[in-house]
Amino acid sequence: MRPALTILIIMCMLCMAALVIAAGGPDKVVFEAKKGTVRFDHTTHHDRVGECEKCHHNGVDKGPCRKCHDGSKAERFMRKSHIVCRNCHKTRGASSSCNFCHQK
Ligand code: HEC
Ligand code: HEC
Ligand code: HEC
Ligand code: HEC
Repeated sequence: MRPALTILIIMCMLCMAALVIAAGGPDKVVFEAKKGTVRFDHTTHHDRVGECEKCHHNGVDKGPCRKCHDGSKAERFMRKSHIVCRNCHKTRGASSSCNFCHQK
């Protein structure tokens, strides 16, 4: 009885985790770029960063970065992504060389 109950509880917890992830945005975001495609793992990055607002600086309900960062309402996302993404990669000891993110 005990092991079955434990498995049931674990399964419930996994379901809840999946729901939280589903509500927390996409699993992966793909940016097509001339320099090479960037595959951004949203889920693992959130685990690394902890707070959504570290990237979604004006709240997670404001839509994708590129909605505003299109070069008219705010500076183009390319410039911003290079600041946000690469600065952290530098401080966390992850690579910030071009082809770490841009893959052909
Ligand atoms: C940490 C990840 C990361 C690194 C490192 C990085 N980039 Fe990017 N880059 C991106 C993302 C994300 C975009 C945004 C794509 C978009 O706007 O849709 C981008 C966009 C670009 C674009 C504009 C997209 C296009 O094709 O018009 C160019 C050019 C570019 N990067 C060049 C570079 C060069 C050169 C380097 C190395 C010095 C570099 N990047 C390093 C993540 C990175
Ligand atoms: C390391 C940076 C980073 C963190 C941390 C992060 N996100 Fe994101 N998120 C992004 C990027 C980049 C995109 C893609 C934006 C685009 O396509 O222009 C995105 C996209 C999204 C989207 C889809 C875009 C939209 O609004 O339609 C949602 C929803 C979202 N994130 C929610 C969250 C939530 C909730 C958290 C915290 C649990 C979180 N994000 C943490 C960087 C991050
Ligand atoms: C609702 C509109 C909006 C959304 C969505 C948005 N931004 Fe911004 N962001 C702005 C504005 C406006 C500024 C200030 C003007 C500028 O720097 O171009 C800004 C500034 C920034 C800055 C500069 C901060 C600094 O200290 O220099 C970064 C980096 C940035 N945004 C990254 C992001 C990322 C990453 C996302 C998505 C996860 C995002 N933004 C989503 C509107 C937005
Ligand atoms: C707050 C810190 C932080 C931010 C912001 C961040 N990253 Fe990362 N990223 C990391 C760390 C840490 C790793 C892990 C490197 C390793 O495994 O050694 C990583 C790994 C990666 C990888 C390799 C695959 C993976 O997920 O392990 C890619 C591609 C990447 N990041 C792209 C991006 C892009 C694009 C952005 C901006 C939209 C971004 N990162 C923003 C910390 C960050």
